[in-house]
Amino acid sequence: MRLGSFVCLLNFALLGSAALAEDPIRFIAGTKLWILDTNNSSYVFGVNEKNQLQHVYWGKRLWRDADLSAVHSFNEWASFDGPATTTPGEYAGWGSNMYTEACLKITRQDGDRDLVLRYVSHEIHGDALHVLTKDINDDILVNLYYRVYPASGVIEKHAVIENKMSQAITVESAQSGTWYMPPGSGYRLTYLNGRWAGETQLVREEVHPGVKILESRRGTTSHQTNPWFAIDAPAEKNGRVWFGALGWSGSWKFSVEQTPHQQVRLTGGYNTFDFAYPLQPGEKLETPPFYGGFSDAGFGEASRILHRFTREFILPGGLSAKPRPVLYNSWEATEFHVDDPGQRALAEKAARIGVERFVMDDGWFGARNNDHAGLGDWFVNPKKFPNGLKPLIDYVNSLGMDFGIWVEPEMVNPDSDLYRKHPDWAMNFPGRPRTEARNQLVLNMARDDVKEYTFGWLDKLVSENNIAFLKWDMNRNFSEPGWTEAGAANEKKLWVKYVGNLYEIIDRLRAKHPKLEIESCSGGGGRVDLGILKRMDEAWTSDNTEAFDRLRIQEGFSYAYPAQVMMAWVTDVPNFNGRSTPLSYRFLVAMMGSLGIGNNLNKWTNEDFALATKMIAYYKTIRGTVQQGKLYRLFSPREGDLTANQYVSEDGKQSVLFAFLRSQQYGRPAPTIRLEGLDERAVYRIQPLDGRKLAEKLETVSGAFLQNHGLNLRLTGDYDSTSVLLERVQ
Ligand code: DGJ
Repeated sequence: MRLGSFVCLLNFALLGSAALAEDPIRFIAGTKLWILDTNNSSYVFGVNEKNQLQHVYWGKRLWRDADLSAVHSFNEWASFDGPATTTPGEYAGWGSNMYTEACLKITRQDGDRDLVLRYVSHEIHGDALHVLTKDINDDILVNLYYRVYPASGVIEKHAVIENKMSQAITVESAQSGTWYMPPGSGYRLTYLNGRWAGETQLVREEVHPGVKILESRRGTTSHQTNPWFAIDAPAEKNGRVWFGALGWSGSWKFSVEQTPHQQVRLTGGYNTFDFAYPLQPGEKLETPPFYGGFSDAGFGEASRILHRFTREFILPGGLSAKPRPVLYNSWEATEFHVDDPGQRALAEKAARIGVERFVMDDGWFGARNNDHAGLGDWFVNPKKFPNGLKPLIDYVNSLGMDFGIWVEPEMVNPDSDLYRKHPDWAMNFPGRPRTEARNQLVLNMARDDVKEYTFGWLDKLVSENNIAFLKWDMNRNFSEPGWTEAGAANEKKLWVKYVGNLYEIIDRLRAKHPKLEIESCSGGGGRVDLGILKRMDEAWTSDNTEAFDRLRIQEGFSYAYPAQVMMAWVTDVPNFNGRSTPLSYRFLVAMMGSLGIGNNLNKWTNEDFALATKMIAYYKTIRGTVQQGKLYRLFSPREGDLTANQYVSEDGKQSVLFAFLRSQQYGRPAPTIRLEGLDERAVYRIQPLDGRKLAEKLETVSGAFLQNHGLNLRLTGDYDSTSVLLERVQ
């Protein structure tokens, strides 16, 4: 955008008077403040007397613009903490005597590293705000983009850094922004931590003075920490929660700081570890979008805001997307031993119980009989499928299911034709070891030739076969991230370029094949974030499909992501830690997300088929509510033997309750469950699954009773579980 087209400071008065009170973004000329309003929150920042951007407020919605005064930078605290440190900069460059986490740090070619950003101009277009800032001396421009999603309660921000100098600069830290909580102490930080087969475990701790880093240095989102946060001010009633999620599938970092001056701030964006992004004159770098929201009704409301926002504005289908189909996946049944007759046998049985999508997992291509070979050779294995995929796909389609297939496009086994032909395509530092993980190396997707090759074979696969769905896997993190062809100065761009090219491949594929759907899998939940979910329809939550473990994994997942994208399979027992739970329990756990079946159906009894048929039929009547409704977490698996979740449809006509008891001490009843999210004046028909006898022998019941008295489901013994369906009748 041309500088000349910007509204400059001189025009403040004009803009301020033109703004309507109900505009989601307003600039108040007299105080030089921007007020960004959603239905439930306000976000305010302004221009201070030094012409720098300064944060003012983020929290519950304010209504009176006149309550907000012009900003003035904060005083120094002795000679050790100057205004650059004490003042809450909205998007601060590292310069002057700033010691808190900067949003941008650069080095000029001549070695000068000081960067002090000042306001230049801004533009407001409806829900979008663009503020231009610039270094005090040099033509280093920082464009700050804000977008308000008024009805969703979410604000998005990101930055574009532009080098308009005649010399190169190197960006050493590029953050998407800083979020400020109101100054104070006693805050708690909640985040999602874990490991392979144990992702999204909820961690909650006090925010203390100092800095806490949450990050991935792995090149991808990671199983270990997810780019989502919540910071709450605990209160006896209705705690206030500030939350955010980064839309990025590469290395990322959140710095959570409590300064000695009681500022609580979270800065997030590209990970600064091994980061160096040179910008030649005229070049730009864009940071990932960072989404933030506020709730004054606790974590439950915070999740519901984010779920609805993700469904409406992030996921490819938007709000008009149909609920996810019930799928079958072959992995746990056959592992690599797939072939035409074996897959047909499973498909026939899957169709019988009501499955709508049949997915053939790993093992169908190249010399892929185990994880030692074949990755990279994306041609159908002729021994396993002598006539190609078409006969199997036709058969699956004839059973009324669509067909999906597993791919792992970013990887190569050294034992593959692709690697023998292009060893340089794998990330490496020449002459250094190439560390294998699961016997595979990472293809350097930052290279345009690798990108084109990858797009080419995926496009061919999808064009030549009636494939409705790709399960896109990624089974290791980066190592030796060398990119010799880029030249030494540019090698570290790999961290950003890789993800950009990955996104481009997926975007082009989807544009060319608009009906294609994709799942983000990375050895389970290693790549779940709002960047990948913008282009993929669902995510594989965890390779750990053991139902009891899943309760915690799914609970953590639900803090950040909607049930619609949370793939959950029913699988055989004993599984993982050797635990065996009843098939009905496994079904009910998986039915709290997007349901899949991963069992070896060849081993099922008639009773298993009958139960599965009934459960899938039940799921189809409630999945709209589960996947696209509002979630209420009633009892947490972290806190006791009972877990209970309730979902309420958007129109309030249906609600479904799931409850799980781990174990019961003899004679000790499980707690009564008080429901939420209902209309107290309404009456609901109550239908316990399988005609289970509840303590309350009622056919219809008021919302007031359900929410205040609650239901006693009479759960007993070990791994008991049930579901109750409520339909509003008046
Ligand atoms: C890891 C995935 O998470 C599994 O579901 C399965 O697809 C395997 N990879 C296949 O290699």
